[in-house]
Amino acid sequence: MKRKLAVLGLCLVAAGCTADQWERFPGPDDVIALVPWFVTMHRGIAIQPYKWPIPRMPVEGTVPVTGNEPVLRVTPANLPAIDALRNPVERTARSIERGHDRYDIFCLPCHGAGGAGDGPVNEKLLVTPSLLTQRARDLTDGYLYTYIRHGGAIMPAYGARIFGEDRWHVVNYVRLLQGAAQ
Ligand code: HEC
Repeated sequence: MKRKLAVLGLCLVAAGCTADQWERFPGPDDVIALVPWFVTMHRGIAIQPYKWPIPRMPVEGTVPVTGNEPVLRVTPANLPAIDALRNPVERTARSIERGHDRYDIFCLPCHGAGGAGDGPVNEKLLVTPSLLTQRARDLTDGYLYTYIRHGGAIMPAYGARIFGEDRWHVVNYVRLLQGAAQ
């Protein structure tokens, strides 16, 4: 009996067990895989929906909820569209908390903890404006949002690091700083 098992074992090895199959007791899939013309799910044809050459297109009328937001740089021609953006996020405690978190990571280095333009990086950069001026208060939420996304002449774009709603949370937090400074 022992001999027969040993022979069976050897046959399995000869038939090409992979290292990880060797380490565990063979399951039904392993046995079926030994027969070359049997197809297991592991090796079978699978549909890869996003793979070239036939990526499956989204259903018509699909609205992107993340990602595909059209580029809208801060240029004079774009100002009407930028200022028309409506802040969809209410200034709740949760929004402020999240905005505060993102602000301290991405904006504080230049604009300072309170928004006065006195962050540690600005000791070298020297040109960061205060976010507490009347000019900054008069900027629309849409403008702040777009500035975060695309940056300015010197200010880097944070669109790739602060995503979707988080940008509005930062806007809400900047508004809070402006309110607190008044
Ligand atoms: C590397 C330094 C730096 C960082 C980080 C930075 N900014 Fe700025 N920011 C600037 C500079 C410099 C300007 C002046 C305009 C310009 O040259 O882009 C500016 C301008 C602005 C303005 C005013 C635009 C105007 O037209 O008056 C806003 C609003 C603003 N930043 C918000 C933010 C917010 C929110 C963050 C965090 C997501 C942030 N900034 C991060 C450097 C920075």
